[in-house]
Formats: sequence, C-alpha cells, structure tokens
Amino acid sequence: MSQSRFPEPETLPSRPDFPDPLVMLDGTKVMTKEQWETKRRPELLALFQHYMYGRMPPAPAEVRWTVLHQDDKAFGGKATLKEVAITVGPGAAPPIHVLLVVPRNARKGPAPVFVGLNFCGNHALVDDPKVRVPASWVYPNQPGVTNNRAGDAGRGKQADVWNLEQTLARGYAVATVYNGDIDPDRIDKREGLRPFLASLKGDAPAGAETATVAAWAWGIHRVVDFLVKQEKEIDAKRIICVGHSRLGKAAIVAAAFDERIALAIPHQAGCGGTAPDRCKSAKAETVKRINTSFPHWFCGNFKKFNDDTSRLPFDQHGLAALVAPRPLLFTNAVEDPWANPEGQFEVLKAAEPVYKLLGAGGLDAATMPDVGKLIDSRLGYFIRGGKHAMTREDWKVFLDYADKQLGKP
Ligand code: GCU
Repeated sequence: MSQSRFPEPETLPSRPDFPDPLVMLDGTKVMTKEQWETKRRPELLALFQHYMYGRMPPAPAEVRWTVLHQDDKAFGGKATLKEVAITVGPGAAPPIHVLLVVPRNARKGPAPVFVGLNFCGNHALVDDPKVRVPASWVYPNQPGVTNNRAGDAGRGKQADVWNLEQTLARGYAVATVYNGDIDPDRIDKREGLRPFLASLKGDAPAGAETATVAAWAWGIHRVVDFLVKQEKEIDAKRIICVGHSRLGKAAIVAAAFDERIALAIPHQAGCGGTAPDRCKSAKAETVKRINTSFPHWFCGNFKKFNDDTSRLPFDQHGLAALVAPRPLLFTNAVEDPWANPEGQFEVLKAAEPVYKLLGAGGLDAATMPDVGKLIDSRLGYFIRGGKHAMTREDWKVFLDYADKQLGKP
C-alpha cells in the first residue's frame, strides 16, 4: 500500500496493547523470513514515515568529500584525526562536517567505527585549535556558547561526554557531526540541509513531510556513505550508530532505515525513539508532551495521536524490529524516568518475535536486569545508576557490547 493510501488516524482501530509486529496492516500473518523482508519490513518503514517521522528522503545524486584538516599524530600519536566536509548535490547545499578519529594501533585490521551526532560542535570533543567551530545556530546551554553561537571557549569542553581516548584505546574509530549541520534544532526555522532535502524527489503526502529526527538520520546515512566509499582504514561491516537522547532517537531511526549500520545504541533515547508510544509510566514523557514541546521532531500526522496513541498502527517495538537481525542495545539511567527505562525494556521484549523469526536470538532477560549489569544478547539492555547523561561508564558498556556482538577489533 502506498503511503498516500494509509487510513486517516481517527479511522484506525484502537489497540491499547502493542500491535503484533508480525501482522500486516490488512491482518495477514507474517510466517516466514521472506514475508518479513519483502512485505512487512517495507510496510513498517512506510508506516513510520507516514504517521511519525515523515518521509525519509532518498539518497542524494551526488556526495563529495574534502579533507579540511588532518593530524596523523593526534592523541599523543595514538590516532589519526581528520575533519572532512561532506557536500551533497546537485545544487549548493551547506556541507556536513565530520570529525573522524581512527586508532593507529590496538586493532588488527580495519577499525570498527562509532558514528553519531553531537550536540555542540566537533571542537567541543577534542582540544585541537584547528577543529572547526560551527557557524550555525547552537543550543544556548552548551559550553562556550553566546547568543546561540559557539566559540573557542567551548574547545574540548565535552571531551568527557565522548571519551574518545577510551574508545580509541579499545581499537574503535569515531565519526561524529554536529546535529545542527544537518538541521539546527529550532522549533520555528528549518535551516542546514532542510531546503535541500525538500528538493529531493519522492512521495510525501500532506502531514508526512520530513521532520527533524528523520533529517538527522538522513545526515547519519551520508556519513556512512563517506565511511563506506572513502575510508580504507574503516571496517564497512562494523559501523555502529550511537546517539544520546534526541540524538539517540535519530540513531535508532538511522539504523532502522539503513542496513549498512551493523549495530545500534540509542542511549536514553526515550519517547519518540525507544520508549513506548502507549506510555504507561506517570513519570515518562508522552507523545502529547513531546509533540507539544518539540513539534518539529515529528511529522504532522503524529500529532493526530496526541490524545489516543492506541490508534497508532505500530509502537516502538516495530522500529526496534526494523533493526533485526542486527544487534541493538538500549542503555538507560535510574534517575532518568523521563526516558522510561521500564517501558524501553518492554519494547525490546516485544521486538523479540521478529528477531526469533530471523533466527537472530533475542533478549536474554525475562525481567529488568540489576543496575550495572549488561545484558549483552542480540537485543541488549543496560541500566546504570545516575542521571540523564552520556558518560565514560556508558561508553565502556557500548564498547563491551560491540566487542561481544561484532568481535573485538
Ligand atoms: C527533552 C525531551 C526528550 C529528549 C531530551 C534530550 O527532555 O523531552 O525527548 O530526549 O530532551 O534530547 O536530552
């Protein structure tokens, strides 16, 4: 069924529980891997675009890259650091600036790589005066930001969020981009690559226009293009997509829509990403709340479910299932009930039938694990003590999980 023929939200049946991910919209039961791959997976991708994220634009006709700066002796000689401008075309779209760090040792072959968006600019992740400070709008609460412009004072100030040294020492590369290079996170203005995305051909019925989370995910796909096509030092089979919170929402959407991503780690992603739309927790963010505070993250149709999420023809376990059979880890914190850690565990459990159908294993836990204990099965789960943040301890868990699922570098 083409997206434009999907029913109006108010005519969809009310289903208070998670819809069965292995039943098509018309009621047909999905019994085989082939049916999943050729029928249900494409249907779910279309449903998520139509009712929630808006259209995922096609890949651009042109992608080019230019190295802006390279240091072969970064991190005391332990890594190569590059900043690369990715330009998409045709036409004059603003570039996406990728910071790529690759370990020189601690690995045998090409390096597996973490790809993810950052909140504040590449300059905040490393102490290197040559790394670019974003020129576009940035969040007011980030270090070194005045009047929504980043400055030199922010250099290196988020080194403890990305913990690049630890990741490099474990043999992994990291490729990251400031999310505002793709779409600055403003409610009322669409800048960055948004005008270019709108120019790409494709079907986007009214109410299902590309929204910000999908735009960010599209930008991640362009970083994957660059890594796969250009970077010989990178293992194209071990691309791990990571992101924190709203950028974790973008990480799981990126992985759901692009099978070149081998593993996804949406960290504390919560509502609109990894937490149930049918929210049962009084402390967690709801669909109505997120659509009110951040209307630009999701498409117009999603707002029609504000007062009745039971009519959604999917829940977020469907998005998790789109990552199958690839490994998927949800990570949380005890003092972050807004992201609904319990609900996220239920989402993973509900995605399991699809993983099982594909012979990919599942979630090796019947109930939430103890705090600090990583469940490292194909569907993985972790909750630590503490608050909403991306910490060194979180990165250690990401690395342990990647080692287990993709093999040590
Ligand atoms: C807000 C928002 C969340 C989001 C978070 C973040 O709290 O409500 O949905 O995940 O910001 O990005 O830090």
